[in-house]
Amino acid sequence: MLRHEDNVLLTRTGPGTPMGDMFRRYWIPCIRSEELIADGTPVRVKLLSEDLLAFRDSEGKVGLVDERCPHRRTSLYYGINASCGLTCVYHGWKFDVHGNCVDLPSEPAESNFKKGIHLTSYPTYEANGIVWTYMGPVEKQPPVPDFYWMHLPEENIMAERVWQECNYLQAMENDVDYVHAAFLHKAHQNQQIKKGALSSDLGINPEHPLVKNPPVEQVVESTNYGKRCIGVGKADEVNNAFMEIHYIFPFYTYPPRFDGEDGMWHAFIPRDDYSAWSWDVQFSHHVPIDKQAQHERRGLILDNELRKKRNFSNSYEQDRKLMVADNFSGIRGIANQDHAVTETMGPIVDRSKEHLGTSDLPIIQMRRLLLTSVKGFQNGVEPLKLDNESLVKLYSQGAYAPKEKEWKEALPLKEIFAHKQGQKSHEPQKI
Ligand code: FES
Ligand SMILES: [Fe+2]
Repeated sequence: MLRHEDNVLLTRTGPGTPMGDMFRRYWIPCIRSEELIADGTPVRVKLLSEDLLAFRDSEGKVGLVDERCPHRRTSLYYGINASCGLTCVYHGWKFDVHGNCVDLPSEPAESNFKKGIHLTSYPTYEANGIVWTYMGPVEKQPPVPDFYWMHLPEENIMAERVWQECNYLQAMENDVDYVHAAFLHKAHQNQQIKKGALSSDLGINPEHPLVKNPPVEQVVESTNYGKRCIGVGKADEVNNAFMEIHYIFPFYTYPPRFDGEDGMWHAFIPRDDYSAWSWDVQFSHHVPIDKQAQHERRGLILDNELRKKRNFSNSYEQDRKLMVADNFSGIRGIANQDHAVTETMGPIVDRSKEHLGTSDLPIIQMRRLLLTSVKGFQNGVEPLKLDNESLVKLYSQGAYAPKEKEWKEALPLKEIFAHKQGQKSHEPQKI
């Protein structure tokens, strides 16, 4: 349960809101590279309640600019993308990727008016098939992010950007919630799972540690990137299974994975307060990833705007016959299952009406970190700085170890992720 005013603080991210301003201090995945073609049609990308346009100019450079022309505020989406700039179809004003006005043919040639005109634009950074942006103050711009999977060969990675029809926070809370996997994602029968993939589109096998024995024992500890959540479940009579989830401040996660399974990285970026861009990067550590298998098991079928065709209006195509023999939810697609439960909470869940139990510890801890940080930020305290040198080594791992072993021994936190001296730390909490 959360007080109404804290729920408002956490979930409003438009310009000028405390959370929105704090989020603007971090690099944001914005669009997949292949969505942008040189001199091609611009793409509308709403971020943090701002209507933006992404376009690739004749030289391949990516611009992320205000959708509205600074002259009469018509949409530049209809503009001409050619000769290194975007030209408004209303009166012909032209802008480059940096938002500079490079042509203003509606004014006399000798006029200086053009020099004072600027289209809002944000810096972009392109790597591994993803364009990132930074929307905060120039003097506060952090180094570009350096995640583990960004160093893998292109063929080992599969990235997806999806319009999720709810506030970013409830989508992200679902990612640190170990226990839901044992219900929502449970397949009734053991299935032949494709190599590397965690599940089929029905769900995760009942013998997998994530599904086998809820509720798992859980621990959350503070790290230099945010929170490490550990789940401890029974593997067999002798061994326990230890699983990690990483919450990287403020909106990135690594869900739990074992050796031999493809890794997964997520980001939950507010589109506006009622919808989010859910980013999913599946990565294979050593061999090219099986894109088909990953796509099928996630089960998201998208339209041109990246909205789901299985959605609230058709009850996510839930099939009650499937529930009897095949899986717990009757919904196909692991990601589709996640979207169904988070979107049907309503656009912004009323957290003053919920009842959190002991199994919700990671959610409580994540909220607490966000709340403490944003309240500090309102009082002039800088938010957590991500350390690329250690971040690049981070991904989720799992381990099997004899039951007598403590989580700290079985799946120790590497020294590089520990709080540095002088950093605020919270004792791990166990339930
Ligand atoms: S509104 Fe764009 S040039 Fe006039
Ligand atoms: Fe899930």
